[in-house]
Amino acid sequence: MKINLNQDCVKDLISNAELAAAIEIAAELREDKEAFTGWVNCPQNMPAEWLDEMKRVADDIRGECDKLIVIGIGGSYLGTAAVLDALGGSKKGCPELLYAGNNMSGYYLADFKSVIEENEVCLCVVSKSGGTMESRLAFSVLKDWLYEKYGREETARRIVAITDPAKGILREESDKEGYVTFEIPGNIGGRYSAFTPGIMFPLAVAGVDIDAFVQGAKDISLSEEFWNEGLKYAVARHALYESGKIIEVFEYYDPSLRLIGEWCKQLFGESEGKEGKGIFPTSLTFSTDLHSMGQFLQEGNQVFFETIFNVLKRDKDVIVPSSAGSELAGRSLNDINAMAVKGVMAAHAKANIPMIKIDIEDISEYSLGQLLYFLMISAAVTGKLMGIDPFNQPGVEDYKQEIRNLLGQ
Ligand code: PA5
Repeated sequence: MKINLNQDCVKDLISNAELAAAIEIAAELREDKEAFTGWVNCPQNMPAEWLDEMKRVADDIRGECDKLIVIGIGGSYLGTAAVLDALGGSKKGCPELLYAGNNMSGYYLADFKSVIEENEVCLCVVSKSGGTMESRLAFSVLKDWLYEKYGREETARRIVAITDPAKGILREESDKEGYVTFEIPGNIGGRYSAFTPGIMFPLAVAGVDIDAFVQGAKDISLSEEFWNEGLKYAVARHALYESGKIIEVFEYYDPSLRLIGEWCKQLFGESEGKEGKGIFPTSLTFSTDLHSMGQFLQEGNQVFFETIFNVLKRDKDVIVPSSAGSELAGRSLNDINAMAVKGVMAAHAKANIPMIKIDIEDISEYSLGQLLYFLMISAAVTGKLMGIDPFNQPGVEDYKQEIRNLLGQ
């Protein structure tokens, strides 16, 4: 992975003092003395037994079902969905993953009834607190439908619960009903839980190589270059923000990365948006969205900067046939897509749009592990440079309370 800060308008903003401050912040994060920093050393220290146990249970679940319904919201599902989508879905012969509990729409959940009737189904419920309304509601509905099909005892065998090691109603229910459980460690919050069972267990069921995923994160976290050069992204983000660029547009040239964009929105938005501060994260799929938002980017209100996820190698491609015309015939579509990256960047450079390009070797478990770890560190460091706590989310409580009031809870 390589972070390109090529433009003067970005490079010139990075001061040595700010970079030194970022290095100090990162060193403190690595000491893991603060609350909710358990994720920083998680990939390096991950016990092999943890991974083995996840793979063992995943094997069992694979033998039981052709659909695994993953129930969770925010940090308790987006990482799984983002990584799996980027990799092109479940591996051959592995259950398809479906996602519930990430909204409160009855219209959406109703369709799961026939999924359960027509397939062999298991549930994986992920909730650190155990009490999140969306996941609780979906879990109780889906569980009931499983009872109807399999009976109570068999249903309990088909549920894997991933939650806090000691507290919460999901923990209590799991202990009572005898579900297989995995833990999200107490000192790791939802959006920083990419390298915990909450995200990795469902991936393992889908046939994803979770060892390689963790290895990517581990290697980057052990690279001293990362803890110096890599932090420039966090510093650049903060400097751009201070210069009035209050929106970050995450861009990628392949729709399979769309959920990586959603994951970034959650990670950065929930980490940084507090105390009247924060960069508003948004994401665009190119070239699709150039035909809608391209105009705004080129000539609209210049309050944003762009972060481009540029994938260097893809393992699938097509060659353009002669019917497309002599200039294009015989060329690889991926190469044409790479030209689009260059062309768009050239046009946006003319409009003085600050851009940060992150080159990603390929879309593999290993590279995604590197990317997610890099982004989590960046969110934490920029947040600290802004002077906010990147690990809490006090504002999320307000709307939840209003809904609870309306429901008479
Ligand atoms: O990052 C966060 O803390 C949140 O997005 C949570 O992951 C989300 O609200 C789900 O919480 P829980 O896992 O407690 O159900």
